[in-house]
Amino acid sequence: MKKLALITGGTSGLGLACSTKLAQKYDLALAYCNNDEKAEIAKSEIENKYPECRIEIFKKELCSYKTAKELYDSVVDKFLYSPSILINSAGRLRDGLFLNMDFSTQEEMINEHLITAMALSYLCLKNMYKDKFGRIINFSSVSANYFKKGQVGYACVKSGIEGFTKCLALEVAHRGVTINAVAPGLIETPMTQNMVNELRENKLLRKKIPVGRSGKPEEVGELVQYLCSENASYITGSVITIDGGRSLGDNSI
Ligand SMILES: NC(=O)c1ccc[n+]([C@@H]2O[C@H](COP(=O)([O-])OP(=O)(O)OC[C@H]3O[C@@H](n4cnc5c(N)ncnc54)[C@H](OP(=O)(O)O)[C@@H]3O)[C@@H](O)[C@H]2O)c1
Repeated sequence: MKKLALITGGTSGLGLACSTKLAQKYDLALAYCNNDEKAEIAKSEIENKYPECRIEIFKKELCSYKTAKELYDSVVDKFLYSPSILINSAGRLRDGLFLNMDFSTQEEMINEHLITAMALSYLCLKNMYKDKFGRIINFSSVSANYFKKGQVGYACVKSGIEGFTKCLALEVAHRGVTINAVAPGLIETPMTQNMVNELRENKLLRKKIPVGRSGKPEEVGELVQYLCSENASYITGSVITIDGGRSLGDNSI
């Protein structure tokens, strides 16, 4: 039977790039939050390119164990089996100085990025463990270890994602389940479009990023595709940076 990949945020940016790569081999359950039109376009474009891939889209605002369980149940109801691949990509940036922000924003960020990834892993893992095969990829960021004012909540959730990834990987490695995190730098997606445009206009991309440009979502999709493959069975508990050298720490640029 064909394996199923559940990709949160699978209709936009990095999640969409992962969906497009994984469609070559797996059926897809793509979760999103608000943008129905974008989700329909993502579904039909991938279907046109890979007609043998079954794709279903699921609208669900992920913010708790309860909402993660509702999503998981509707995916299993539709496909009649549990995902073998889980990509936790959903989540938004909410930058602002810690003392200037309402504290509820910090709680929302933790729920949206961290609790959701943990809850979906918990739900999907039971079957992966039984099947002796599974792949979980969590989206971290260079912001987990490379700090900027205004990103306390974001740094906190992404550091949490990395600790979660490593510790859980230890517990399930002996059952053929690998758990890794990908930590992108600046990749051009709807989330970062304004930032990329500004840096480009001011000719700063070349100065701030050693390879001289922002990353492409497909470059991240290819890395995730490899991590999900059988060939990557010896990589687990890793955090793989993909940032054009930005976090190497040359302050002279
Ligand atoms: N782009 C970068 O440079 C970069 C760098 C480092 C880390 N990352 C991380 O990579 C991940 C994806 O980022 P991206 O750039 O691809 O962002 P994006 O283009 O804005 O896509 C985000 C996706 O997540 C969905 N989503 C957001 N909040 C959700 C929620 N509460 N429940 C369910 N779905 C939700 C969105 O659905 P709707 O469109 O329907 O709202 C959309 O499909 C994020 O975790 C981000 O922190 C990105």
